[in-house]
Amino acid sequence: MSAPSSRDAAELYEHFKVLDQPEMYSESGCADIEGLVAEIGRLKEECDATILAHNYQRPEIFEVADVVGDSLELAKLGRDVSQSTIVLCGVHFMAETAKIMSPEKRVLIPDARAGCSLAESCDADDLVERRDELRQIYPDLKVVSYVNTTAAVKAVTDVCCTSSNALKVVDSIDSNNILFCPDRNLAAYVASNTDKNIIAWDGDCYVHQQIRPEELRKVRAIRPDIKIIVHPECRTDVIDEADAVLSTSGMINYAKSSDSDSFLVVTECGLSDRLMLEAPDKRFYKACQLCKYMKMITLEGTRDALLHGRDEIILSAEVCEAARGSIERMLELS
Ligand code: 13P
Ligand code: SF4
Repeated sequence: MSAPSSRDAAELYEHFKVLDQPEMYSESGCADIEGLVAEIGRLKEECDATILAHNYQRPEIFEVADVVGDSLELAKLGRDVSQSTIVLCGVHFMAETAKIMSPEKRVLIPDARAGCSLAESCDADDLVERRDELRQIYPDLKVVSYVNTTAAVKAVTDVCCTSSNALKVVDSIDSNNILFCPDRNLAAYVASNTDKNIIAWDGDCYVHQQIRPEELRKVRAIRPDIKIIVHPECRTDVIDEADAVLSTSGMINYAKSSDSDSFLVVTECGLSDRLMLEAPDKRFYKACQLCKYMKMITLEGTRDALLHGRDEIILSAEVCEAARGSIERMLELS
């Protein structure tokens, strides 16, 4: 987990001219990017701010980020950074998690509309109702929630998890019966690797849900040597085709340390951009989809977040405290 080293506009152009928005990464587009990157650097100093970015962000966001990471790494950083302002370039639940971990800090997200279909699929009151029904049958039932949930859901959760530690959290928890919320695909992946009884919430990530196993098989047929790396938010029939099932940062570590030189990256497309930066000598093929929420975060929005102090994450002290307990238990268990 690190911020990529700074590149000049020409280098950025070389890396990203293959993306879907060629005009944005044209030489003149990259000159604009360079100006914004410098302005954001100055504002960060003035505001005593740090920028934390998720691995799915646009490549130019990596240029202004102090650290780029997966959900677990961002949750830990939200607790540990020293600056008084955190700008979270990711989706809303990630910014909420930073606020939960550091309620005394100012936490900004460049666009508060950057949601997540998983977080939207689970309402805290519905979760409490389902948990209480299930406890009539399984008195020891515990709620494990993926971090892709609102602060209100985290506040009624026993232990949170992320894609990199879900199995470890489930196996470490002192209950045999677990209501796993909200991703039914991640729940199915965990259920197939544990002896515990996993009862899944019925949510999914609209991005990963669209990926089909046929697409992977076609690539494997043409390139039998390729390593297929899959995010556990994918459907079970997609996971069945994987050489490795990994979180976003897990995929980066795997690709860097693998003897193979070509990979089919089965997750949101931004991860392929990050992989191109982190392992420039290897080849990455995309079986990916764009997350419209992640792509709402732009350099202009990040500059405006610092200039105008928006959009600020505000959470009540009670919700923050209850939600923090579920994240801290996750950090203890993993
Ligand atoms: P990671 O924790 O693997 O980064 O996943 C976050 C996410 O939202 C995947 O869609
Ligand atoms: Fe949510 Fe899916 Fe986007 Fe990740 S990729 S932020 S799970 S909608």
